[in-house]
Amino acid sequence: MVTTRIGSIAIVVSALTLLAVSVGGQAPFKGYKGKTLIAHRGASSYAPEHSEAAYTLAMAQGADYVEQDLQVTKDGQLVCLHDLTLERTTNVKDVFPSRARTLKREGRELTGWHVSDFTLAEIQQLDAGSWFDPKFKGAKVLTFQQAINLIKGKAGIYPETKAPEVYGSLGFDMERLVMDVLKKNGLDKPGADPKTPVFLQSFSADSLEKMRQSMKVTLPILFLVTDADRDLWLTRERMTEIKTFADGIGPAKGIISGKPEIVGWAHDAGLSVTCYTFKSSDQPAGQTVRDEMRRFLFTLGVDAVFTNNPDEFPRK
Ligand code: G3P
Ligand code: CA
Repeated sequence: MVTTRIGSIAIVVSALTLLAVSVGGQAPFKGYKGKTLIAHRGASSYAPEHSEAAYTLAMAQGADYVEQDLQVTKDGQLVCLHDLTLERTTNVKDVFPSRARTLKREGRELTGWHVSDFTLAEIQQLDAGSWFDPKFKGAKVLTFQQAINLIKGKAGIYPETKAPEVYGSLGFDMERLVMDVLKKNGLDKPGADPKTPVFLQSFSADSLEKMRQSMKVTLPILFLVTDADRDLWLTRERMTEIKTFADGIGPAKGIISGKPEIVGWAHDAGLSVTCYTFKSSDQPAGQTVRDEMRRFLFTLGVDAVFTNNPDEFPRK
């Protein structure tokens, strides 16, 4: 009898806890325990994006996840770089002055030093820090594996397949490369390492569909959406379709400030909402990046944000 009553009380308490979590606005969505801080390219307001310094600082500043944009080298290695080309964030022009070329990429002509034209050994000769500040001279481009080595056990990782169609056309199976690295590190299943949650992301619905539907990936997945694709994807009707290959939507923040009802549509479909990108460098006079993140998280009701300023994340 006592056992039964204790059991009943436990069930009631659990139900109340769940209710409080929902009413309190904490995200009950796959991959998130509450309002979630993703360090965008690391703490990239303060250190070169995707550098060891940026990742380490992001964790010191309390990031729940540290983001990796991924590209593929000529010899099939995943590296943490945002751009398809190397010249914005490295000194490749000085080291390999004759290696730029023009290629058709994502429907346009792109001239530059393409990541896919360089081996990992070549890329690791580059200085990926001086462009940001001379004090970071000598920073290296990190491989995905090196990023995991830095972060595992201390924060989550949030890898993005960048331009998977481009790399597919070059003969690389980018989704397989990503999952192979995760598997090698024991991170390919939800909860495999509770200290290192993993969330996958892409702007490519095809890439995400392939992972969820063909590869049967069970890790949480975020579908990124640009301003240009807002009306194509972010309707109430299409949320159920997105749910077949993703666990959350990742709209540009202007989409949500312009059409806040999208948050409710996503939540009703069981999708979390994660906006990008919040940075101190693009705030209007009188507003801080903390103010902006607070409005999105606690007034507009989004579940997570990508920010270059993890130290400004408002926990409440
Ligand atoms: O992945 C979220 C956000 O980083 C998307 O923008 O261009 O910085 O990868 P981008
Ligand atoms: Ca990204």
